[in-house]
Parts: sequence; structure tokens; C-alpha cells
Amino acid sequence: MSISFRATRLWLPAGVAAAIVLFAATGCAGGSSGERSSDEQFPITITAERAGSGAALYATNCASCHGEPGVSRPVLPNTPPHDGSGHTWHHPDRLLFGWVLDRPPLAVTMPAFRGVLDEEEVIAILAYIKSTWPEDIRQFQREGSEQYELQLRESP
Ligand code: HEC
Repeated sequence: MSISFRATRLWLPAGVAAAIVLFAATGCAGGSSGERSSDEQFPITITAERAGSGAALYATNCASCHGEPGVSRPVLPNTPPHDGSGHTWHHPDRLLFGWVLDRPPLAVTMPAFRGVLDEEEVIAILAYIKSTWPEDIRQFQREGSEQYELQLRESP
């Protein structure tokens, strides 16, 4: 008993250190290598900074139609809510990202945000939307996003 307890106490700091190294490496890749950063962009990592700036960008650019996830329902008819009651979480991050920039397939009302928002701003908005989902939905959607990325890498 005491051995496993000790092992946990020893390993925890190592795990935390590994997570920090991993996070730092991802951050570096974003700044130095465009090719690598596009591979590592999805699934989107939710950070407090991204969710914070994403919330402000969402309020300015999206809430007028979609409402605030978890706070208010969509304002415009036929506009999906982004909270857990909607279907945003049925889609992988890479597709959501493209849809915000260039409109979802068959969109009627949803505007394109390419040229209005830059890529990191769209990522921040999606990080904010994801941060409002219940944990089980967030986990499910993250696994779907990972699966989607794997399929992209495996396809010729
Ligand atoms: C002018 C109203 C309007 C604005 C502003 C708007 N949307 Fe939409 N959005 C819609 C409508 C309506 C749809 C459903 C497709 C359609 O009919 O165009 C939609 C669909 C979507 C979808 C696909 C459906 C889903 O839930 O997965 C996403 C993602 C989305 N919007 C994200 C955003 C984000 C993020 C912003 C802000 C950057 C935004 N929208 C701003 C009206 C809007």
C-alpha cells in the first residue's frame, strides 16, 4: 500500500512536467513551423486565454444570431444553438473551423468570416464554445475530432 502511494507522489510531478513540456513544444511549433502547426491545430486545445478572448469575439460576431451558449437561445429563426442542446458538437473541430471561415455546406444565412476574423480568432471562438459544453459532450466531441484527424492522415 505504502509503496504505491509513494509511487503516485513521485510520479505526479513528472507527469505535470511532461505536460508542460508537451504544451510548450506545441506552442513553439505554432510559431516556427507552419506545416507542423496545421497538423497540431486540431483537436483544438482549450486554454483559459483562448476561451477568454473567444468569449469576447463570440459576443461581438456570433451571439446576435446564435445566442449565448447556456445563457440565451438563438435570436434568428433556423439558427442552431452552440450549447449541448444543438448539433455543433456532432462535428469535428477541423470542419467547424472551416465552416466559420467559409460557411457551412448549404448555409443560407450564416456569413463567412474569412477576412473578418483571423484563424487564431476562429480557434479562440471555438475553444470558448467548447468550454461551455458539459464534460461528457466535450470528451465525445474531442474523440471525434481526433478520429477525424487520424482518418485524414491515413487517407492517401
Ligand atoms: C447572421 C446570423 C449569423 C451570424 C452572425 C453567425 N451565424 Fe452561424 N449560423 C447561422 C445560421 C442561420 C446557421 C444555419 C445554416 C444557415 O442556414 O445558414 C448557422 C450555422 C453555423 C454553424 C454550423 C451549425 C453548427 O451548429 O455546427 C456553425 C459552426 C456556426 N454557425 C458558427 C458561427 C460562429 C462561430 C459565428 C461567429 C463567428 C457565427 N456562426 C455567426 C447564422 C449566423
